[in-house]
Order: sequence, then structure tokens, then C-alpha cells
Amino acid sequence: MCGIVGHVGPKNSVEVVIEGLKRLEYRGYDSAGVSFINQKDELEVFKKEGKLQNLIDLLGTKKYISRSCIGHTRWATHGEVNDVNSHPHSANPISVVQNGIIENFATLKQELEGGGYKFESQTDTEVFLALIVTTMNSGKTFFEAVSSSFQRIDGNSAFVILNGDSGEILAIKRGAPLVCGTHDTHSQALVSSDPYALAGVVDRLYFPEDNVLISISGANKELIRFYELDGTPDCKRYLSKKQEMTLETSEKGKYEHFMLKEIYEQPGLVRALTQYYFTGDGVKHLEAVASLKPERVHVAACGTAHYAGMVVKDYIERINAIPCEVEFASEFRYRDPLLAKKDLGLFISQSGETADTLAAQELCQKKQLHTLSLVNVEGSTLFRNCDSNLLIRAGVEIGVASTKAFTQMALTGRLLAGSMAGQFKTDEGKKSVADKFSLLSERIDQLLARVGEIKDIAERIYQRNGFFFTGRGQYFSVALEGALKLKEIAYVHAEGYASGELKHGPIALIDDDMVNIAIVGPELYEKTVSNLQEIKARRGVIVTLGPAGDKILEEMSDYYIALDFSGLEELAPLYVNVANQLLAYYTAKFKGTDIDKPRNLAKSVTVE
Ligand code: M6R
Repeated sequence: MCGIVGHVGPKNSVEVVIEGLKRLEYRGYDSAGVSFINQKDELEVFKKEGKLQNLIDLLGTKKYISRSCIGHTRWATHGEVNDVNSHPHSANPISVVQNGIIENFATLKQELEGGGYKFESQTDTEVFLALIVTTMNSGKTFFEAVSSSFQRIDGNSAFVILNGDSGEILAIKRGAPLVCGTHDTHSQALVSSDPYALAGVVDRLYFPEDNVLISISGANKELIRFYELDGTPDCKRYLSKKQEMTLETSEKGKYEHFMLKEIYEQPGLVRALTQYYFTGDGVKHLEAVASLKPERVHVAACGTAHYAGMVVKDYIERINAIPCEVEFASEFRYRDPLLAKKDLGLFISQSGETADTLAAQELCQKKQLHTLSLVNVEGSTLFRNCDSNLLIRAGVEIGVASTKAFTQMALTGRLLAGSMAGQFKTDEGKKSVADKFSLLSERIDQLLARVGEIKDIAERIYQRNGFFFTGRGQYFSVALEGALKLKEIAYVHAEGYASGELKHGPIALIDDDMVNIAIVGPELYEKTVSNLQEIKARRGVIVTLGPAGDKILEEMSDYYIALDFSGLEELAPLYVNVANQLLAYYTAKFKGTDIDKPRNLAKSVTVE
């Protein structure tokens, strides 16, 4: 959700923080702000509604120099989107930014107002600020005030707090992401909600556990110090790792949008995945999951990761003959699901920070299930909390609409299923899957080379009223994912349906302004074609993603995207999905939306 960056060091902190916020804008872009200590040792705060550029414009051409600065990009939870509700929230000398929600904020606010505190904003963050300030006014130190205030709040949050008097930054979290890092030679330290902000700036990362108080200050030889909440120093409750992310991986290059770049990265990533797991560093991880013999598998994930979970379910049930259930993590966590110790809890996530997915993992862990993640971000909370992990190796994904992560999640799930079934004990077993991945990568390459066709179709349909994505069997999950992609970036009404379900209700909506994106694979062909006839009879606009050379289907359709399904078998949905990704991308482009930062969304949903 919100992006947080804090910096202390000899480099100009304001510039470092703004640079970090630029990278984190994908986490929230309702408003942005910074606070820092200026050269006269005064606390200065700048904040502005809207995209980060508005804040940069507000800062203007004047060069602000500071050795200690915190900043924020907001995804609003409490309080409308405006300048006042933007972070940081400040009451001299304290300034606070938050990512998360204070669940008991109303009670605390009432209490603080009763004591005479005057609130300026509608945010829950200001309640935390007020707690710190009133505690300091009662004679406590900055550290004591932050610690005791943090212990009074309920809910999952990460806070970064600047003390304008000392320049010290304190940071703390519960159930929300926080990472800090240092650069030895540059003697600077940063804290952020996302390691991506730290790429190329620090060489060592620290992922603190919940309730560890982190102090970042230039006043001590050690730039970062970790404490327990009671003030005990030298707390070791953190994971430390070398920073490996490079800046090049996070640039758009020749592409207009990150989303497009990420779509085009897929063929290479697909090939690299088998190399990693069959001959590279991933061998031991894939071998480790081979010994898992669960009686059932429970998959919990959200959004695109959930739809990838549906693909993985197909693999596990078919290859392992184990029952596998897939649920939205937000439902799973509150449903009291039937879980047995011999079951496997499988959690799929790009960020590894999705609050609902983390809660589902915690639930399974409590019930003593083995928990396994298919995750992109190494070192993320999900990665750290699970008993074992298979990295999906998608690289940094910046586009808020997830593309390459979907493909990599599903393929890593295919490798998991194969490993549990003992398929990779022999070189032939590995080769047969590696060849199939390689064929998929080739087919995606061929499809990307025909992007013009898809762009033309998008131009003809982008003004239509609504879109139904339909698919049967293994294509149902990608019908759902295709609809999600289109609605989130093109802001049009789109739904995914199992082809056979349309006539049970949704067909009432079909008219000549409704588009049916029909996925027709070689499997269950006749039945799917009959469903298309039903749409045609009601004058719906039909865009078919179907087998190449199928004249009957081509004639029946208004627009036809010819696909070569041969040899792909269970990987075919991932191939079709790339066509859907391109269709969504170009529809959004013709509509003129902000593709990489669609309205109301954030890349990583760290609140419930
Ligand atoms: O980081 P995660 O994979 O756990 O995120 C899950 C969803 O929030 C995410 O897939 C979301 O639906 C994307 N906007 C989809 O494009």
C-alpha cells in the first residue's frame, strides 16, 4: 500500500528520499510528502495531494539540503485524499509516516481530544503522532514515547518517525513490511516499506521482525541499531542479507510502460525458470519439496495470484492426484477452514506482503500444517514466515497490474507438482518439462511478434460497454484473470465466466454493445463453440482466441486471434493469457488511462 522512505547520511537526504519515493509510487499515489531538518535545524514539511510530481513541483527549484528526511506516498485508508490528510503528519519536533491501519484509532482519538489535543486531519496516523507528542510532553524520551505509543495501538502498521530536534529516525512495524539498509562506504542508512527503494543505494538489507525498534542516526558509529521495545539494545531479531537488486532491472528501457516491458519479459523468464530449478541454485529447493506428501493442498492467495492458484490446482490434482482447494485468502482466514496437520498450506504472492495471504499462512502454521510459498520477493514477510519457499523468479514487477508474475507463479506451481510426483528424479523427466517450458516461451515470443493484430482489435472494441471473458476447463482461470486485467487498467466492466455458465444468467446482458472474449482451446471444443453460437444469436461482439486454421470459428467471430496450441497441453492457458494481457494493455492505451498506476489501486495490499 503506502510507500515509506527514510534516510540519514551525508548525501542530501531530501534527494535520496524523493528518488526512493519515485520508485515506490506504484505502492500508492493518492498524495505524497516529505519532512526533513533543514540547514537551520528546523523541521520542514511539504505534502501534496495527487501524484508524486505534484510534490516535486511544490518543492520547486529551491535546493533543500538535509541529512535526515522521511517521505511517503499514500494509498488512502482513513480520511479523504487531500493535502491535510497526506503524510507526514507533524507536530514540532515530531513527524510521522505510516503504512497500515490503527484499528482502535477512534477510541484513542476521543481520549486524546478529551485531554485537549487538537487534531488537524482525519487520519489514524495523526493519533499515533498525538500519542508520541503527549507522552514526550509528559517527560518521556523520544524512544520511550514511540515504544509506549506503539504498544497502545491495535492493527498492522509500519511507522517511520523523525525527531526534528535530534535528526534521529525511529522505525517500527507489526504485520506490515519494513526493511532497512546501510551502505558502508557511503555511511548512510535508509528505511523503507519496500526493498525496491533501496536498490543501488545500500549494500546490506535488514528485515526486522515485528516489534523491533530500529534507530537510524548519524550520531553513532553504527548507523542502524535494533532494540527491543523495552529498550534492550543489540536486538538480533532481524534477517540480514546482501542487497542484490540492481537499478537496471527496474528501468522501463525502450517500453512506454512497465506493464508492456513486463509482458515482453515473459519468454526469457520462462526459459530461465527451468534453468534455475534444474541446473542452478534452485535445484536444492525443488528437491526439498519433493518429499512433501500432503493429503490435501489448501491454496490461499489474492487477485492475480489467486487465479494463478487455480492453474496450480489443476496441475496438482492432475499430476499428484491430491485434492487441492483454492480460496481467496481474505475468505480463507475468516472461514475457519477444515485443516489437518497432514495437509499442505500453499500461499502464492508476488510481493509476499499481502495482508490477507499472510494471515492465511499464519492460520495454517497455527494448525501445524507445512506452509510453502510460491513468492517473488525473497526476504518478504511471506518468504520469512513459510516453512519452505519456491521463488517464482519474475524479477521486479512494477506495473500495478500483474503480468509476468502470473505466468511464473503458475509455472513454479507446475514444477512443484512435478517435484512432488517424482517427475524430476531422472534427466528425462526434467528434459520433458524443460522442453515444454521452452515451447511455451517460443509460442509467447511468436505471439508478441503479432502484437499489431491485437492492438488493431483493441482499437475496434475499446469503446464498447462491457466485456465477458469465457473459457472452459483449464481456460476458465485465465478468463477470470483476463477480465481482472482489463477492468483494473482500462476501467471497463469486465467479468470472467465459465463458458457453460453464461446461459444461466449473464447471457441476459448480451447485446451488440457487449464483447465476448472467448477462449476456445482444442479441449471441449464443440461445447465451447455451441456457447459461442448462443452469443452470436444475441448479436454479441465475439473476439475469439482460438486454434489457428479453424475456418468455422473464424467465420463465426467478429475478430479472431489465431493461436498455435499444439504441444502445449497444460501450459496452453499461460500462452492464451499473454494475448489477454496485450488486449487489456492496448484497450487501456486507447482509453488513455494511467496504465502503470491505475486509479484506486496499489501494487501491494498490506491492509485487510
Ligand atoms: O503481491 P500479491 O501477489 O500477493 O498481490 C495479490 C493481488 O493484490 C494482486 O495480484 C492484484 O490483484 C493485482 N493488481 C493484479 O493485477
